Amino acid sequence: MSLGKVFVSRRIRQAGLDLLTEAGAELRVWPGEENQGPGRDEVIEGARWADVLLSLLTEPIGRDVMEANPELRGIAQFAVGYDNIDVAVATELGIPVSNTPGVLTDTTADLTWALLLSACRNIVAGDAYMRGGHYKLWGPNLLLGEDASPGGDGRRKVLGIIGFGRIGQAVARRARGFDMRVLAFDPYARKAIEADEEAEWAEFEELLAESDFVTIHTLLSDETRHLIDAAALDKMKSTAYLINAARGPIIDEAALVVALREGKIAGAGLDVYEREPAMADGLAECDNAVLLPHLGSASRGTRDKMATMAATNALAMLRGERAPNCVNAEVYDTDAYAGRTS
Ligand code: DGY
Repeated sequence: MSLGKVFVSRRIRQAGLDLLTEAGAELRVWPGEENQGPGRDEVIEGARWADVLLSLLTEPIGRDVMEANPELRGIAQFAVGYDNIDVAVATELGIPVSNTPGVLTDTTADLTWALLLSACRNIVAGDAYMRGGHYKLWGPNLLLGEDASPGGDGRRKVLGIIGFGRIGQAVARRARGFDMRVLAFDPYARKAIEADEEAEWAEFEELLAESDFVTIHTLLSDETRHLIDAAALDKMKSTAYLINAARGPIIDEAALVVALREGKIAGAGLDVYEREPAMADGLAECDNAVLLPHLGSASRGTRDKMATMAATNALAMLRGERAPNCVNAEVYDTDAYAGRTS
């Protein structure tokens, strides 16, 4: 007998699918290619069919999807971020929502450093130079960048971390190897910052003005949308780099293009975009930006673990148990949840 039905909105790693089927769940996996996702109607159709929705950050899950099935028992997101899901509506309707926290912390912190070093040391431009057959002779002035460590000028560089949750803290730990001074701003984690051996609390504007590298690790919310706008970019040093492996809309991307073009900042390393997968006009032409296609958590091991975590959450939802990584746990005490699962 089937444990229940799970609609998986894109093909996740097999380890997660196996966990679901071995436990007796019936699956419907969106059959599109890797770079295609279901449209709104297909997600609604999937939600109508399923007991649990296993969603990706690429699909908006709003009231229309959730109201499609009065018996939907949960939404298990395959990501730590869940700004694509209207959690307030889910709670109102009695639907638990889960995510995959923790597992991708190191993988995303590593990628942040890859972006940072690529941006300040011309890694991408150097690769293109080699492939283009331009390398004829070693040169003392070839593709000069800036140090992240004290390096030639002996000055400890300043890393400014916006958002001091798990990923921000993991980025701070890695800064020790570069002998950096770490500033951090996160109004929800002031105590954690003050207690942290790696970081010093800084007000937002102070952090922008003093940092050689500003890196963003906060959630996307109404509070953080366009946190980095033209005014914030103006406060940064003209020699500083901006790194974002969190969510695109935290930066006003059109303003960033102007800042990169006009040399208001030295460069940027971006993994996420305001209207992902599209880029703001002119961004692709900015040679001082390193651009990646949202690879923050993209290691095999981490994506396997994200798949099994999402599957574990989905199985708990099917069984009427509390999902281990529920983000709206208050839902379990509501009549709406009781009505849905009785
Ligand atoms: C997340 O989990 O939120 C990342 O953006 C993708 O893994």
